[in-house]
Amino acid sequence: MLQGANKPFHDYVHVSDGTVDRVIFSDQAVYDMEMERIFARAWNFMCHESQIPKVGDFFLTFIGEESVIATRDKKGELQVLLNSCRHRGNAVCRAESGNARSFLCTYHGWTFGLDGKLIGVPGYKDFYHEQLNKEEWGLIPAGKVQSYKGFVFATMDPEAPDLEDYLGPVGRLGLDLVAERGDEVVVEGIQKSQIGCNWKLAVDNLFDWYHVGISHASAMMTGFGRGRNLPPTIAERTGPGTSDPHAHRVLLGDYGHAIGGPRITPELRAMMAAAGDDPDVTLDERWRDKPAAKAALGAAGADVRGHPNIFPNLWIASNGTQLSLRLPKGPTTTEIWWFTIVDKNLTEEQRRARVFRANHTFGPAGMLEQDDGENWDQSTRQTHGVVARRFPLHFGMNLGHGAPQSIDGGPTFIDAAINEHGQFWTYRAWADWMDAENWAALKRDHVRTPLTPA
Ligand code: FES
Ligand SMILES: [Fe+2]
Repeated sequence: MLQGANKPFHDYVHVSDGTVDRVIFSDQAVYDMEMERIFARAWNFMCHESQIPKVGDFFLTFIGEESVIATRDKKGELQVLLNSCRHRGNAVCRAESGNARSFLCTYHGWTFGLDGKLIGVPGYKDFYHEQLNKEEWGLIPAGKVQSYKGFVFATMDPEAPDLEDYLGPVGRLGLDLVAERGDEVVVEGIQKSQIGCNWKLAVDNLFDWYHVGISHASAMMTGFGRGRNLPPTIAERTGPGTSDPHAHRVLLGDYGHAIGGPRITPELRAMMAAAGDDPDVTLDERWRDKPAAKAALGAAGADVRGHPNIFPNLWIASNGTQLSLRLPKGPTTTEIWWFTIVDKNLTEEQRRARVFRANHTFGPAGMLEQDDGENWDQSTRQTHGVVARRFPLHFGMNLGHGAPQSIDGGPTFIDAAINEHGQFWTYRAWADWMDAENWAALKRDHVRTPLTPA
């Protein structure tokens, strides 16, 4: 039961004191509305083009809780199709990825082309008397499918703005922070696991550098990233993953995109330069000096080391080796997917080292997410109680501290100590999405990024 379905969703997010009501983290009616007003409307990350390079390649993923097939049709065009036969609704694709010439429904045998068109119906002549209009009974296509620098997104809502407009400067920068590193491709095999938490708490955590020293204390003590004789990463050189807690940079974008975390300080830059041929530094940080990367990142992005989130649920890990989707599976269950990214020009040894480090950082076998998952599970449980729900959660760290700035018309950012600006911005945007009845209302009414020119 939604406690307060008759009030605006902005009433759950309290700008005056930086608090958020707990009801939004486990209420079924709130969750159902999120499926409609956020996931069925937003641009959702599907896959990287390197996962479906050839005609007939496909990758199965989700928009909200709905299974969709991302594929490449005979013309080489990207397609995203609802994975549900138009006859009785059966899934027409069961494999997580692969290559197909068409999608054959296993129930009665309707067959759909790679572009979703209905191309085969058993008994079409004898039982349907050729009166079924196949043009009308193809798979349901996404409203729009577009890619940005190889990252494929789809929206079910044809009224959505084009992808680049949706991403805006902050969303684009988030993707540039991976795309500009080199010839990036996604490694085969997506790591998937479920955690008993609300999807928003898993998103919220990606901006959270406050928890690192506590939640991950034991992981840091083990020196977990240093297998295979790898030298320490920049993060490991400079402390328990946090660098200087007083030198953080947050970028806030329209529609809820944000980037938050440590900044590359002049001291850190000098340390990177002095690291010489250290392969980790070469792999992880030198790319920033390439002219194309410099141009894409701009002045504000050049020093960003924090994690971007593309609203609603795509986390781009700031080390550039992993992407994560926080897929909702009910109000108190989230499926976490991890994609590992490498430069296709790496030597086999470098590639293995990079995959090894990724596997041991985030994901079900990583040292960090197990710590996090336990906390999110408990946080979610404590949003059920009738008493607990009377008391909101606090997101006010450093609220009001750190002025928004912009360099030469670039994206807005705030330099401050560790803070919760990224998290709270995301909840404010969440309320915008939930209160807006359609894209026209969302475009008109959403909270603008500070300093955005009118
Ligand atoms: S459900 Fe697909 S052919 Fe009948
Ligand atoms: Fe964590």
